Amino acid sequence: MEQRTRVIHVVGARPNYMKVAPLMRVMSRHPEKWDQILVHTGQHYDYRMSQVFFEDLGLPHPDVYLGVGSGSHAEQYARVLQSFENVLDELRPNWVIVVGDVNSTLACALAAAQKHIKVAHVEAGLRSFDRTMPEEINRVLTDHVSDLLFTTERSGNENLAKEGIPPEKVRFVGNTMIDTLAALLPKSENRQILKELSLHFRNGNGQGQAARHRAYTLVTLHRPQNVDESYALSEILEALERIAEDVPVLFPVHPRTRKRIKENHLSVHPDRVRLLEPLGYMDFLALMRQASLVITDSGGIQEETTYLGVPCLTVRPNTERPVTIELGTNRLVPRESSAIVREALHALSNGGVKERTLPPLWDGKAAERIVRHLEQV
Ligand code: UD1
Repeated sequence: MEQRTRVIHVVGARPNYMKVAPLMRVMSRHPEKWDQILVHTGQHYDYRMSQVFFEDLGLPHPDVYLGVGSGSHAEQYARVLQSFENVLDELRPNWVIVVGDVNSTLACALAAAQKHIKVAHVEAGLRSFDRTMPEEINRVLTDHVSDLLFTTERSGNENLAKEGIPPEKVRFVGNTMIDTLAALLPKSENRQILKELSLHFRNGNGQGQAARHRAYTLVTLHRPQNVDESYALSEILEALERIAEDVPVLFPVHPRTRKRIKENHLSVHPDRVRLLEPLGYMDFLALMRQASLVITDSGGIQEETTYLGVPCLTVRPNTERPVTIELGTNRLVPRESSAIVREALHALSNGGVKERTLPPLWDGKAAERIVRHLEQV
């Protein structure tokens, strides 16, 4: 009988789950070929940063939970490396599949490479060319220890070629996070979140109506560059208060950001900017698809808004996802209050709305392509 291929999928932090879910789903159609093991490093551990995504995405319970928790970069790498090495010794997989650019991604790729276990990197080749971002270091190093590199946009292939990675290791496949978005978008219509937040707007005949006019701005912020420096964080909060004079601002707050707001004694007027707990995948999707504007510093949300055709302002000096600017609805904005307000009001007045063009291969079938490639090597 043909031997099954044993694959370890690694997740660690919030942006990983939606990238892994479609791969597991496609592989699970062929249990005679694939022996799948899901390892959660525990980099993110709060219900709202982890478990709710498992529920929303229909991911199975992790087979192995490493429980590494929070800490400095070195602490996180060290704990994951040590405990993942034991997992590899015990389970001896044929492949380790890592996604994205978080600390768990690099640590697991490195542990596997040192044991001569093949590594596949999903979302390879993205580069911000900004080494002050921890994710940039994770991206570069993960790519250089990987055996098979799956890119989401053509810029990834170009970056990898410039770094001397042989093109035969690289496959342009599209975006598994978009696979998840495309699959779950119809289901997001039935969410109660708009009602729960009392987002009712009056239409012409005076009848209350859910936010059909998309008249709110949705915000996420968590990058150390924006939230760990109190000057930057207060500039951004000031901008949100000003924008909220025109449209309501909804801001689900990442734990890192909440901590910094508190530590720096910052605040926003609660009637204007609504600070919410972090949201699960389906609720966030329901809010994002109806938003008139998204302001973020996330990587993935730049891509999701491009797919949805929702205008997005990214509070960063650069992006590793240039296709979201070239073809999508994304625009970079500096972290200065006046610039953010100007760009936001422009976008809200429809002045900044760009027609969306879907990036190539963002068609909901990236995971199928990845699995086909893995079958062929
Ligand atoms: C990490 C990733 C980042 C990703 C982000 C998504 C790295 C280097 N960064 O950043 O690329 O965009 O996840 O959220 O891997 N915390 C909790 N509960 C949790 C997890 C974290 O309260 O479940 C708090 C802790 O105080 C922790 C802080 O958030 O110290 C930061 O968490 P950490 O995993 O270090 O990085 P993120 O900022 O979440």
